[in-house]
Amino acid sequence: MSEDITLRFAEDADLASIVALNDLAFGQPDEGQIVERLKENDEALFGLVALSGDKIVGHIQFFPIDATGPGAAKFAGFGPMSVDPDFQGAGIGGELIGAGLKEVKAQGIQKVFVLGHADYYPRFGFSVDETAGMAAPWGGPHFMAIELNPGSPPLAELHYPSAFFES
Ligand SMILES: CC(C)(COP(=O)(O)OP(=O)(O)OC[C@H]1O[C@@H](n2cnc3c(N)ncnc32)[C@H](O)[C@@H]1OP(=O)(O)O)[C@@H](O)C(=O)NCCC(=O)NCCS
Repeated sequence: MSEDITLRFAEDADLASIVALNDLAFGQPDEGQIVERLKENDEALFGLVALSGDKIVGHIQFFPIDATGPGAAKFAGFGPMSVDPDFQGAGIGGELIGAGLKEVKAQGIQKVFVLGHADYYPRFGFSVDETAGMAAPWGGPHFMAIELNPGSPPLAELHYPSAFFES
């Protein structure tokens, strides 16, 4: 990643810029609205932003996932993630994932789940195999997870934040 790019935690005042970035990167408003609703509903864990100067050019959103079933689970998910098209392919997305996973690992999160590009996230250690035994609103090759800390129960039902299901 370029030395001119810095990462920091997202702050309240960043919200409008983060929504605009998501709109630009995805070409539709849905993902920015999820970020807004996670915040409104108090369902967010934290976000990270990548800055070029004082311009936000990348963002990743983490949120807790409640789990029910035998055994105590500490799970999280991330998404949406977006990088300004003018800055894509320079490693910013990878840096946001790496820094975010480091933070959730330090928080004692056992597993992190993502629903996304099946060809992109495996390079960071995400695997469909890690979702075995997890009942979730989605499945298939785009639903992946990574284990960061031991102790994850083998069976659980995942409850995503309501922000993902409102419109
Ligand atoms: C996906 C995204 C966040 C990656 O950010 P980035 O800063 O460009 O990522 P990096 O520079 O760390 O990695 C670039 C690599 O990711 C690959 N990549 C990007 N999008 C991909 C996709 N949809 N499927 C597979 N690989 C993808 C690139 O081909 C590149 O591969 P290479 O390293 O072999 O050349 C960015 O492309 C983006 O914002 N896309 C639009 C929104 C989106 O799809 N978000 C993710 C939803 S799951």
